[in-house]
Amino acid sequence: MDYSLKDKNIILGVCGGIAAYKSVELLRLLKKGQANVRVIMTRNALHFVGPLTFEALSGTAVCTSLFTANDPAAIRHIDWAAAADAVVVAPATANIIGKIAGGLADDALSTFLLAVTCPVILCPSMNTHMYENKAMQRNLQRLKADGLLVLAPESGQLACGTTGPGRLPEPEVILDRVVSCLSPQDLKGKNILVTAGPTREPVDPVRFMSNPSSGKMGYAVARAAQHRGARTTLIAGPVSLADPPHVNLIRVNTAREMASAVFDNMDRAHVIIKAAAVSDYRAKEIAAHKIKKENDEIVLSFQKNQDILKEVGRRKKHQILVGFAAETQALEANAVKKMTEKNLDMIVGNLVGSPDSGFHSDTNTVAFFFKDGSREALDPMEKDTIAHILLDRIVEKFLK
Ligand code: PMT
Repeated sequence: MDYSLKDKNIILGVCGGIAAYKSVELLRLLKKGQANVRVIMTRNALHFVGPLTFEALSGTAVCTSLFTANDPAAIRHIDWAAAADAVVVAPATANIIGKIAGGLADDALSTFLLAVTCPVILCPSMNTHMYENKAMQRNLQRLKADGLLVLAPESGQLACGTTGPGRLPEPEVILDRVVSCLSPQDLKGKNILVTAGPTREPVDPVRFMSNPSSGKMGYAVARAAQHRGARTTLIAGPVSLADPPHVNLIRVNTAREMASAVFDNMDRAHVIIKAAAVSDYRAKEIAAHKIKKENDEIVLSFQKNQDILKEVGRRKKHQILVGFAAETQALEANAVKKMTEKNLDMIVGNLVGSPDSGFHSDTNTVAFFFKDGSREALDPMEKDTIAHILLDRIVEKFLK
């Protein structure tokens, strides 16, 4: 199954609000995901951002009116509506919200919105008092009841000087909502716990032992699970990735912190996926002060960390437990051994040691091994795609 934005037809509606500049970045992100994007701007939006910017980024003419001279597509709003996979209106002003709540069609965008049958995401953005106005809230309730998706505005200081709800969410958050609404909701009602990234084991106040895990693989799994409707908790070691929207993110540093976060959250999880690269050892003693370079050689003592996955395997009741095995050789033998020793339902054998697989890369080479003895090797591919295939297999094998 294809869960990406690639070749999806997305309509971006832009209304006249100060946040219209963020729609330009949203368009860029949609195009980066290889979606086909067409833009409809209201007349007021033209006061904030010129259509040329949207035309250059989308590669197609922007629709600003139903009655453009020399336009061969006379009923363009109907054609576009029929082909659309999703519509996102960002920013959605009080005016457009009022019009569509009342079923009015007096310009290109409102007329188009009456004609669409695909999911519509509205991103209200306006002054706090306007947003909290009873008529506005009544309109939003009505639109939600009609099946439109409303992405609540963020709170903060607004361009008009007031502080409160009304700010358009960042383009990445809106993009995330678009991807969710195009994804199957086959994990709805499930709690999924994912671990990602490395752990850091301090040696002194300024040094630590760790590994090169970037967190990309685990974050991809958490994002995919959230897009597919799961309530997702992500326990992450120190990484420099953006927080995935709508995911309960718990940050930890050491293996011991990761262990207690996992044990605290495992009971309510239906599925636990451990992609983190946990340090196997920690310093026996952490120096109170920076170790000075007085000697040519120093010897540090390390002691074994608890194997978190093994302990979860011992305690687990109803949970589906999935581990990862980072291996440079004998992938199958080593991965299957870990699956058995740790009482797992499935393990992802991960070939590490080359620049395009394993640590830090955007792509990965993995094979799945299941406790029933079956296996599946995947071609090298993007970590985001692997994450979805992994969830596909978990759904097919364990959740049906
Ligand atoms: O983060 P990226 O840069 O995207 O890289 C992804 C990855 C290579 C880190 C990831 O795909 C991966 O393979 N993760 C597992 C790395 C690892 O620690 O493998 P392992 O074979 O040492 O451990 C086996 C399993 O036991 C893992 O699920 C691990 O989370 C778990 N473990 C290990 C040690 C420990 N003390 N506690 C654990 O829970």
